[in-house]
Amino acid sequence: MDLSNRDFLKLIDYTPEEIGYLIDLAARLKADKKAGTPHRWGVGKNVALIFEKTSTRTRCSFEVAASDLGMGSTYLDPTGSQIGKKESINDTARVLAGMYDGIEYRGFGQDIVEALAKYAKVPVWNGLTNEFHPTQILADFLTVKEKLGKLAGVKFAYMGDARYNMGNSLMAGCAKMGLHFVGCAPKEYFPDPALTELCRKEAEKNGGSVTLSEDTEAVRGADVVYTDVWVSMGEPESVWKERIEALSPYQVNAALMEKAGEGAIFMHCLPSFHDLNTAIGKEMGDRFGRKEMEVTDEVFESAASVVFDEAENRMHTIKAVMAATLGLVPEGYMD
Ligand code: CP
Ligand code: NVA
Repeated sequence: MDLSNRDFLKLIDYTPEEIGYLIDLAARLKADKKAGTPHRWGVGKNVALIFEKTSTRTRCSFEVAASDLGMGSTYLDPTGSQIGKKESINDTARVLAGMYDGIEYRGFGQDIVEALAKYAKVPVWNGLTNEFHPTQILADFLTVKEKLGKLAGVKFAYMGDARYNMGNSLMAGCAKMGLHFVGCAPKEYFPDPALTELCRKEAEKNGGSVTLSEDTEAVRGADVVYTDVWVSMGEPESVWKERIEALSPYQVNAALMEKAGEGAIFMHCLPSFHDLNTAIGKEMGDRFGRKEMEVTDEVFESAASVVFDEAENRMHTIKAVMAATLGLVPEGYMD
C-alpha cells in the first residue's frame, strides 16, 4: 500500500482498502509504542500545524506523533500567524511547503483546506473543518475494532447534530467500511442530501447502509451510540436555545442506551458537555436550567463509555496518516 504524497482531506477520497490500511497501521504503531519499540523514521523532517480553531486532542496528537516519528513540528495558533489576515491561504501554502514536509490545517470551510492542498506541494492533513473531521473517524474506527472486534456489519447510531463535521464524516466512514449508519436527528439536522446520496451508493458497494430517522426507535439494536456537541466551534452563542429545543429528544441518556441494547458502547469525539465543570457548560447550564447537554454524566462515566480510548487513539491514527503520506513506513513493516 503506497499512500506517499497523498493529502488526507476527507474519507470519501480514500478507498476502503486504504482506510483499512491506515487503521491497521495505527494499531501496529500503537502496539510498538506500548512495547517501547521506537519508530523514528522521519528524522530530519518537519511538519507545520495550523490551528485557526482551538484544540486539545488534535494538536497534542500531531505533536506527540511527529515527535515519536523523530520529526520537528511548529504550532501556528489561531491568532499568532499572518494566515487569512495579511496573507492568503494560497500564499501561505507555498511559503510553508518550502520549509515543511507536511501541513496540518484546522479551521473553517473545507474549501480552505482543499485550497491549501492545491497550492502546497507537500501532503496536507485535515485536522477538522466545518464539513469534515476525517482523522477523528480513523481513531473512532480503531476503537470500534478494539472493542467489538470488527467494523463491517456494526450498527452505528449517531445522535443529534448530524449535519456538521462529525455526522458527515461518520456517515462517510461507515459507508466506506460497510457499517450500518443510522443518523438520528430532526430532519433539519440531517446531513447534506448530496453527500447522503453519495454515501448511500458507497454503502451499497461495501455491504453497509445509511438510514436517517427522526425517531429514536431507530437506535434499537445499535452496537455503537455516538454523539457530539450541539453547538460547534465557530457557531454563534445565539444558536444554543434552538439547539437545546431541537436536539434534547436525541440526548444520549440511560433510557436511550437501554434502547440500543446490551453490549452497546458509547462514543463521543470530545470535548463534551456532560456536567457543569466547564465555563461554557456552566454558563449554558445556568441560562437554560440544565446540568448536561448531549449526553448525561451517567452515560459518559458508565462502563459502556469508551471516550478516553478514542482520545488516545487520535494520536496513533494521526501518526499512521503522517507516516503513510510522508512515505516513512519501512518496507515489510506491515507483513
Ligand atoms: N476531538 C477533537 O478534535 O478534539 P480537539 O478539539 O481537542 O482537537
Ligand atoms: N463538531 C465539533 C467537533 C469537535 C471535535 C466542532 O466542530 O466543534
